[in-house]
Amino acid sequence: MKLEIRGLTKRFGSFTANDGIDLTVEEGEIHCLLGENGAGKSTLMNMLYGLLEPTEGEILVDGEPVSFSSPGDAIDRGIGMVHQHFMLVPVFTVAENVALGREDVRGPGILDRRASARRVRELSEAYRLSVEPDAIVETLPVGVQQRVEILKALTREAKVLILDEPTAVLTPQETDELFAIMRRLKAEGTSIIFITHKLREVRAVADRISVIRRGKVVGTTSPQASEAELAELMVGRKVNLVVEKSEREAGAPVLSARDLVVVDPRGHQVVKGVSLDVRAGEVLCVAGVQGNGQTELVKSLLGLVRAEGGSITLAGEDITHDSPRARLERGIGYVPEDRSSDGFVGDFSIRDNLVLDLFRSEQFSRGPALALRAIADNAEARIEEFDIRTPSASTHVAALSGGNQQKVVVAREMSRPLTVLIAAQPTRGVDVGSIEFIHQRIIAERDQGVAVLIVSTELDEVYALADRIAVMYDGRVVDVVGPDTPREEIGLLMAGGRDSTDGQNDVEDIA
Ligand SMILES: Nc1ncnc2c1ncn2[C@@H]1O[C@H](COP(=O)(O)OP(=O)(O)O)[C@@H](O)[C@H]1O
Ligand SMILES: [Mg+2]
Repeated sequence: MKLEIRGLTKRFGSFTANDGIDLTVEEGEIHCLLGENGAGKSTLMNMLYGLLEPTEGEILVDGEPVSFSSPGDAIDRGIGMVHQHFMLVPVFTVAENVALGREDVRGPGILDRRASARRVRELSEAYRLSVEPDAIVETLPVGVQQRVEILKALTREAKVLILDEPTAVLTPQETDELFAIMRRLKAEGTSIIFITHKLREVRAVADRISVIRRGKVVGTTSPQASEAELAELMVGRKVNLVVEKSEREAGAPVLSARDLVVVDPRGHQVVKGVSLDVRAGEVLCVAGVQGNGQTELVKSLLGLVRAEGGSITLAGEDITHDSPRARLERGIGYVPEDRSSDGFVGDFSIRDNLVLDLFRSEQFSRGPALALRAIADNAEARIEEFDIRTPSASTHVAALSGGNQQKVVVAREMSRPLTVLIAAQPTRGVDVGSIEFIHQRIIAERDQGVAVLIVSTELDEVYALADRIAVMYDGRVVDVVGPDTPREEIGLLMAGGRDSTDGQNDVEDIA
């Protein structure tokens, strides 16, 4: 089946999220849609899947104009989609999930479980998906749940399969398995639209690559294009993908955790006895698939969640029971994962956000007039230094793009004397060009002797920054390894596979 998109435009109020998009997906092609966060990829796909109505333009299936008012319409025309967030019922079996809402429904509300199970088994074997029809979905690893979503689309006879950022939740090995499945589907004639912002992945699996920037397709190219060329297309200017980083001898441990335990609101241990040392003048990166306790680990180091067990020391002093403010005042800088809830006050100006923690400091609290002058000067300097793209210093932070919001947080945290810098997903949602800048600033802190702890689910980021890599899986640090450790090895650790004898090896065998 051939899919053509002509002049497709989507406006939300005065904002144009998709602007006259032209795109053709051939039968049996893996067409990659590459673009930064917020470029408009999901918006485009949601129009193709009947979830959003186009403002202008048309969609053609095998040359014939179609219009979808619901996903059901799109499915009827052979379009399937696997969303960034899965839409499975966790307590149902695979077969039940696959049967839900579509065919195999014998009468109102009655699922033909047996027919569905048979179909799941057939398709699972045909495409080597290794999915058990009777397994309860919530007991399955995320990678397998994703394959259930793919199966669901296949049972509905999808000829064009849309995968929206499918690798965001996968380990490198699971990503390779997904790519193998995509190639088998393609061999059978299925077209795949594969969405990602990761340059490495596009080049591994795509037949053609369309780059989308600010709602427009800015180019279609082949996987022979270099990462530098693709990055330039994505960002609109040349990007330096390598962070300059010199060898540096790390000093003594500054921030240390011992046997740290964190329990979530439901009473489950999410950090299960983590010990680590962050040394002066080093970057320690915590790598792992999202949801393995990294978020909670960071929050406990900051005092934002309580440690149920274990201890934390800063420069030899116990801070386990200090308040978050007390920790920040001891010289811990913090770039939070969810900047909109923890990083800034959206309806404060950039100027005020840049001194959020410093209102009481001497620098900004001399006589009222002097202080206002100092705060304004500070804002001008930081906006310049950190290249924050904004109409003015009095613009509310909420009105900035994600990347510029992040620069406000980074600028504030890096403009005061630090002994420790903790940054969680420091470049999430940030454009490639700003990633480069933020990485350089992180390395600059390290070079000044700051102990830096980075949590990242992006392995490329980990490799760019780390002097040492701690891999987290299921609430534990499974190993701490050097920065030259091969990707495959880190991938195995990310799946918990320290070695096969400790009973922790959960790596899927789908060969
Ligand atoms: N329902 C909506 N209302 C208003 N703005 C939206 C809506 N959905 C998406 N946007 C905006 O459109 C832009 C593109 O979003 P999206 O398509 O999700 O990007 P991508 O998937 O490439 O990260 C973003 O700036 C986003 O904030
Ligand atoms: Mg998206």
